[in-house]
This record gives sequence, C-alpha cells and structure tokens, in this order.
Amino acid sequence: MITGKFPSLRLRRNRKNDWSRRLVEENNLTPNDFILPIFLIDGKNKKQSVKSMPGVYRYSLDKICLVVDKAIKIGIPMVALFPYTSKDKKNDLGTEALNENNLVCKAIQIIKKKFKNDIGIMCDVALDPYTSHGHDGLLKKKYVLNDETIEILINQSLLQAQMGCDVLAPSDMMDGRIGEIRKSLDKNGFKMTQILSYAVKYASSFYGPFRDAVGSKGLLKSDKKNYQMDFKNSDEALREVALDIKEGADMIMVKPGLPYLDIIKLVKNNFKIPVIAYQVSGEYSLLTNGVNKGLVDKNVIIESLISFKRAGANAIVSYYADKIDKILK
Ligand code: PBG
Repeated sequence: MITGKFPSLRLRRNRKNDWSRRLVEENNLTPNDFILPIFLIDGKNKKQSVKSMPGVYRYSLDKICLVVDKAIKIGIPMVALFPYTSKDKKNDLGTEALNENNLVCKAIQIIKKKFKNDIGIMCDVALDPYTSHGHDGLLKKKYVLNDETIEILINQSLLQAQMGCDVLAPSDMMDGRIGEIRKSLDKNGFKMTQILSYAVKYASSFYGPFRDAVGSKGLLKSDKKNYQMDFKNSDEALREVALDIKEGADMIMVKPGLPYLDIIKLVKNNFKIPVIAYQVSGEYSLLTNGVNKGLVDKNVIIESLISFKRAGANAIVSYYADKIDKILK
C-alpha cells in the first residue's frame, strides 16, 4: 500500500452517515425562525390570490383569525401586516395611514382581542401603501422629504402602538426616524413597544411583486434611490445600523435577503444585535416559479432559507412561513 499519497485527515468521515451529519450540523430551521407577512384587503369573505406571487393571498378582515390561528399552531412567533389600499383611499399625503379605522388598525385590534399575546404583531411604518405616488414619504419635486415625513411617521407609529401593535418596523429609510419614534413612544406610555428598524433597505428590483400585492404597482413615479440604499454599498450599511442602534432600535432588518447575505453577516458580526432577514417578494416568486415549473427541485427553498441562518440572521420574514411545517417535513 502506498502511504502518504492519501490524506489522513478526511472531512468526509463526519459526512458518511445521516446520524453523523445530523450530529455535526451547524444550523437549522424551526418555525421559531419565521415571521409571516399577511396582506389585508377590504371586503368580506375574501381570499384573493396575488397574481405575481403564487400561493400568496390577500385576506379580508373576517378571514384574518383563520390565518393567524394557523400561524400560531405552526409555532410562528410573529405576523407582519400589510394593507392593500384601494386607489380612492390613496392621496399625495398618504393620510389613510393615520385613519384609526384603516385596515391595519382594525386587523391589529381583531387579532389582539382574539389571540392576546399568543403571537406578536409587526407593522410597517411607512406611507407607501397610502400615497398616490407610491413613495414612502411626502414627495416634493421627485424628492422624498425627510423631516416632514418623520412628523407623519411618528403619528403612524403612535396610532399603531395604541391599537396594540407589538413591534413597529419603520421601513421608510428616513434619517433620524428611529430616535424620534422612540422618543414619542416613550413619552406616550409605550415604553415597551419594540422597534425593528429596516436599517438596511436597498433600492431593489426584488420588491416588484410586493407592490402588486399592496396595490402600488404602476403608481410609483421614478424610483426610491434618494432614500433607500445603493446596492453597490456595504460600508454604508454599517453606518445606517450604528445610527439606528444609537437611536434605540431593538432589532435590525436587512432587506432584500438572498443577494445580501454578506450584509447580514457584517451586521451580525459588528453589532451582535438581533438581525432579521427579509426574503422579499421577488425572491419568493422566482424560487416558487422555478419549483412550479420543474426547473429546480423544491429543496432550493430550504437551502435558501438556511443560508440566512448561516449568515447570522435570527429570523426570516418569508412568504413561505405559513407553509414551513410542510416544507420542513
Ligand atoms: C414598503 C415596503 C416594501 C416592502 C416591504 N415594505 C416595498 C418597497 O419599499 O417598495 C417589500 C417587501 C417585499 O418585496 O416582499 N416600505
């Protein structure tokens, strides 16, 4: 036998048997890792499919408890509410955001009344579902105004907190909004309302199907590049996160997900704060269409989801969340 020709260290030893692979696995997924986005729509008895997102629906409020009940049974810790707003309720200023009878406010109350603290509720703080131009804030000559927008976001936050929202998630990317929102929450008796800052949100083309889901598709004038981040940058992401932590963020969102695993890892390594990854609508649709068309095996879904954990994410916002029990089986 020729010795010295072959390695004495064989990493394949640990991989030989299934039990051994399970023994040495470094990451895994459980329902605890997921946040389920739910799209809301006016009307009764509606479960309306979102064309660009196979397997995703908009639900009317009378159906919402069924969806949440299922999420609780699966073991998902939190849902995120997103409203489909009809055109007649949108305007330049996004005033529907401050209507205490809007879809999100009603949904929070319904869910909290029925399920108490069995599940957390997260709500976006941003104006885009409500503005006629589709931007996250007030628009002046194609520029989204920062400080004027924050004034409204503070009120939107307070309103959602009053309704019973557990986790406010500013997704607007205005400078300084986390600090202002934290201050006004504290002043108004909402010391314990958590803030999950979309600190790192890129101006991305992966959001397309979401805009269809919330009814802002086709409305968006120009793009969101004067407030959302440039996807060519990563140092800048760390500056965004540092500021939001200083201003009082409890958790940090990185969005989109799969093309930004490097950012998730950077943020986690530098700040040791809970990091949430958002597997956005475009990622979901691409993967799902690929699987449905038989172009790739359905295991691409778990492989993609595990990559978030490997990168350091504590949890994942995913449109697969309500199917995760089946996916993991
Ligand atoms: C709005 C918002 C967006 C998403 C979540 N909140 C879209 C946008 O910024 O245009 C996208 C989510 C997804 O694509 O799944 N502030």
